[in-house]
Amino acid sequence: MPQLLFNQHILQVEQGMTIKDALALHGLTPHNGASDTFNCRGLGTCGTCAVAVKGKTSKPTTVEKWRLSFPPHKPENSLRLACQCKIMGNVAVTKYAGFWGQLVDMAPETNTDLDAKTG
Ligand code: FES
Repeated sequence: MPQLLFNQHILQVEQGMTIKDALALHGLTPHNGASDTFNCRGLGTCGTCAVAVKGKTSKPTTVEKWRLSFPPHKPENSLRLACQCKIMGNVAVTKYAGFWGQLVDMAPETNTDLDAKTG
């Protein structure tokens, strides 16, 4: 069973689940502030569940690539949408600041040490 590392939590999750669903099962969210209420509920269209992910995941979906290709996101930030990205092995997830989690140059909302924990 894969592990998901998020904000000092180490979660046991089912392979094939989305990151958003896996977090929700443990009472956690990939959203910041009001975006936890105001979001597209997993359709992949709002972009508010964007996170940095390291580890084994599904390939980006078409809608995910589309949504991450325009502001406030930037494709070069290599974020993933937690509602689209499926867990395929151990993963470490970091949520950055901003309504969409788009402020990758600021300290992350979650402070997962990606390199140390996924090896
Ligand atoms: S919840 Fe809207 S894109 Fe993921």
